[in-house]
Amino acid sequence: MSIILNKDSQLVSKVIICVGEENISAQTSTLIESELFKKSTKDMFTTSSVEDGKVVVTTYLYAEKDLSDEKLREVYCLPIKDMARRKVNSYAICFDGEADCDFIKKSLPLFGEVFGMVTYKFEGYKSVKPPVSETTIEFVCDVAQGEFDQLVAQGLNIAQGVNVARDTINAPSDVITPRAFAELATERGKECGFEVAVYNEKELAEMGFGGLLAVGRGALNETTLAVLKYTGDKPDVPYTAVIGKGVTFDAGGYHLKDTASIGFMKVDMGGAAAALGATCAVAQNKVKANLLTVIPLCENLIGKEAFIPGCVITMLSKKTVEITNTDAEGRLIMADGLHFASEKEEVGRVIDIATLTGATAIIFGGACAAVTTNNSEFLDELQKSSDYCGEKIWQLPMFDKYKDRIMSKIADYCNSPMSKTAGAIAAGMFLREFVNQKPWVHIDIAGITVAMADENYTPPGPIGYGVRLIYNLLNESEG
Ligand code: BES
Ligand code: ZN
Ligand code: ZN
Repeated sequence: MSIILNKDSQLVSKVIICVGEENISAQTSTLIESELFKKSTKDMFTTSSVEDGKVVVTTYLYAEKDLSDEKLREVYCLPIKDMARRKVNSYAICFDGEADCDFIKKSLPLFGEVFGMVTYKFEGYKSVKPPVSETTIEFVCDVAQGEFDQLVAQGLNIAQGVNVARDTINAPSDVITPRAFAELATERGKECGFEVAVYNEKELAEMGFGGLLAVGRGALNETTLAVLKYTGDKPDVPYTAVIGKGVTFDAGGYHLKDTASIGFMKVDMGGAAAALGATCAVAQNKVKANLLTVIPLCENLIGKEAFIPGCVITMLSKKTVEITNTDAEGRLIMADGLHFASEKEEVGRVIDIATLTGATAIIFGGACAAVTTNNSEFLDELQKSSDYCGEKIWQLPMFDKYKDRIMSKIADYCNSPMSKTAGAIAAGMFLREFVNQKPWVHIDIAGITVAMADENYTPPGPIGYGVRLIYNLLNESEG
C-alpha cells in the first residue's frame, strides 16, 4: 500500500474534499446546494460521469474548516472505506477550490494514521491466505515532496504502533508466549531505535520479583520481564515509565475462570501490547521524550507449582500480600513492575496500563478506560492527550472508605477484597501502594481491548487502545 504525492491525478476514482464554505468552486457549490447532496448521509455524495470514454466516479466530501483533529480523522475514514467498499485499488484524494495549504499539511499525519488503522488486517492462520491487493492513494496537493513524505510517515508510524499492538493481541497464547513477546520487543527495538533488556526467571528471583514469579509458578512457559528504554531527550530529563500487563493467558489459576470468560483471556496482555506499540511509535517518530517501558510477562495457569489461595507472597517492594484470589493476578505483576520503575531515580512519573478488572468493563461497557491517580496535574496531561486522540478515559475516585478493601489480617495487603463492589477502584488502590509516591496514573483497559463492531477507524477486533494515548502524552510534553 502506498500513499503518493501527485500534482495532477488521472485516476478515475477520486474524492474531492471541500473544506469550509469559502473558496469552494462554483461547480461544487451548486452540488452541495442540490437536494441529492442534502439527502446524502455523512456529508458524502458520489457522482459518475464519462470523461474521454472513461467512467469517472467522484465522491464529494464536505468538511468544516475548523474541525478538531479527531473529527478530521473521522472524515478521512470515509474515503478510505469508500475505496474498500468499491473495491478499487487506485484512488485520488483531491481538494476543491483553493484549499488552505496549512490545513492540508496539518491533516497529512492524521490521514496516514487513519489509513494505517483502517486498512489493518490480521493475517491469521488460515491454510489458504486471502489475496493481498496493492493499493495506491494519490494525494493531489501542493506540498513539497520531502515534506509530504515526512508528514504522512509520521501518521503511518503511529498506526504501525497501533497495529503491532493489534497483532500481538490477535496472536494465540501458544504463539505469543512471554518469551516470544520479549523477543518481538527486542526485534522491534532494533528496527525502531530503543534498547531492550530481557530478564529470565533466575534473574528475576535474584532481583526479588515475588509478585510476578508467584503468578507464573503454574505456567507452561517461562516468566519474563522486558525493559525497553528510549532516550529521545537529554539523558538528564526525567523518564516517563509505562508498565504494561503482559499475562499472555489468564486461566484464573486455582480460582479458575468460568467457561464464558476463559476463552477470551489471550487478550490479557493488551496492556503490554499497548506499551510496546507506543514505544515503537515514539521511537520511530523520534519524539523528544524519555521513556522507560516495563513489561512483566507470564501465564496464569493451574499447575503442580502454581500459587494457591491463602498463600502469602513477598513482593519486590518487600511488602507481603495474602492471595485471596489467584485470578486477581494482574495487580501482583503490575505492582512489581511499578515498584521496579518508580524506584529508579531517572523516572519522574509512572503510568500503568492493564486489562485489570472485569468491573471496569461492567461500568463502562467498552466506551472508555477507567483511570485512577495520585496526581491530578498528571491526569490533566493525560486527559489532554485523550481529547486529542479520541481514546477516552474516565476517572474513578479513591476514597479512604475503600481502604479496607486492600487490607489483610495476616499480611500487609490482600490481592482481592471480600466485597465484590468497587472492584476497579480496589485494584487502583492496591497499585498506588507500589509507586513510591511518584506521580502515577493507572489505566484499566479491560472492556476496551477488543471492539465487537466497526467504529470509525477501528475495525472489529483488537483496538490497540492505549498506543495513541501514551504516544500523544509524550509527544505533547515536547513543547
Ligand atoms: N484478566 C482479568 C480481567 C479481565 C476481565 C480482562 C475481562 C479482560 C476482560 C483479571 O485478571 C481478573 O480476572 N480480575 C478479576 C479480579 C477479581 C478476582 C478481584 C475480576 O475482575 O473478576
Ligand atoms: Zn485474572
Ligand atoms: Zn488477568
